Amino acid sequence: MGDQTRPHVHTPPPGPKSQALMKRGEDIMLGVSLIGDWPPSHFVSRYRDGWFLEDVDGNRYIDWLAGWASSPLGGNNPELVEAAHQALKEYGTECLSSLTTWHQYQLAEKLVEIAPKPLTKVVYDTTGSEVVENAVRIMREAAGPSRPFVITFLGSFHGGNYGTGAMGPHNAHYNHGIEPFMSGWINVPFPTCYRCPYHLDYPSCDIACLGYIEEMILRYKATPDSIAGVNVEFIQGENGIQIPPPEWPGRLSALCKEYDWILYNDEVQEGMGRCGEWFLVDAYPDVEVELLSLGKATSGGLIPICYTLGSDRMSEPAGELYTGGTFAGSPVGCAVGIKLIEIIKRDNVLDNVKEIERIAKAKFGAMRDKYEIVGDVRVKGCYQAVEFVEDKDSKTPAHDLTREVVYAMERRGVIPIYEPAFNWFRPTPALNMPPELFALGCDIVEECVAEVSKNHAKGIA
Ligand SMILES: Cc1ncc(COP(=O)(O)O)c(C=O)c1O
Repeated sequence: MGDQTRPHVHTPPPGPKSQALMKRGEDIMLGVSLIGDWPPSHFVSRYRDGWFLEDVDGNRYIDWLAGWASSPLGGNNPELVEAAHQALKEYGTECLSSLTTWHQYQLAEKLVEIAPKPLTKVVYDTTGSEVVENAVRIMREAAGPSRPFVITFLGSFHGGNYGTGAMGPHNAHYNHGIEPFMSGWINVPFPTCYRCPYHLDYPSCDIACLGYIEEMILRYKATPDSIAGVNVEFIQGENGIQIPPPEWPGRLSALCKEYDWILYNDEVQEGMGRCGEWFLVDAYPDVEVELLSLGKATSGGLIPICYTLGSDRMSEPAGELYTGGTFAGSPVGCAVGIKLIEIIKRDNVLDNVKEIERIAKAKFGAMRDKYEIVGDVRVKGCYQAVEFVEDKDSKTPAHDLTREVVYAMERRGVIPIYEPAFNWFRPTPALNMPPELFALGCDIVEECVAEVSKNHAKGIA
């Protein structure tokens, strides 16, 4: 069994069992998106227990995937599993969104208790892509037919279907070959300050990318009274944890007030404690959103449940629409969602997130200062990215070096969120990961960065 408190990789992945299963998978799966040749789709996983991930060849890795941010309390949390069992016993497999169960009200009450003002109402959905689409439908219904446009941000990820695909758009590769999308979205630049779209520096830039909305969009594309609202991730997650300047969210919120645009905040990935507050928007007291969606983490990774919180003003428009679907607000999802909130409160999980943030800033920050290839480090709570470059001056994205670092991490037993299209990886621990285990993962990363730097004679900054 080996030491269960540490990672151990004795069979280099993909091991023989993984390879045999992947071969079978390739023959039967439509598309190969789940059977990649990079970590984590580089091996077949077998079991998740607490803060570790195991593969079918018996390797054990520190889990910095947390189910792509959907398992806030780690794998197989026994209290969440028990809550799910209880709800299953009570309701069987009965799961009709039209058959209301008391769990829906109970979870809604708990959510409204922790929600920022003016969010007072809850509507359920099943997946993140669906919840975002429905929130935007509510926004449009509320704004009325004379306001057909919605402002969204280039690089945002809101989901994988036709509506949400057009809202970012997240990445040109993702949308390649499947256009055209629905119309009506006005995509504007997000403040990706490490790589400013205007090649300016903050703060002397005065956040020129926000000015783009008034200077360009309102001048050339759409009048203010034809815009229903704005859909924003206040930190872009899939786009490598792009953290805006601190005053940007407040200024965006003020712009929405000025033009009577409904501000909708997609917190499917960043909410429910991942950024150190219940909702990321809590970190920006001068922001007021009227719609806010959560997903992924909301049922601890056991069963999909998503919801949108809305202001009183959004209630009537929401009632006009058919949202949700067969499985929306399932009793099991709600029961687990309730238990999750109880545990986060009881165990002071948000304090743990802040401690992990402190460690990440210190350890990854030191790596950025030390190594030429570590270009940028972006950390907010357990929402983190480490970006690699050929050298600090040119900032040329170093995809191959990133890949080598991630492979080295896999060999030493740490699995982050990573996709080869990007020159960063994203440490995404469970919110309750013991800080010392997280710190061990960071130390392993440093060994890998040192190894790759040495192999490429990249040296110390
Ligand atoms: C911000 C954001 N919105 C929406 C989604 C879509 O969620 P789902 O994968 O559950 O459809 C994601 C998924 O990563 C996300 O990060």
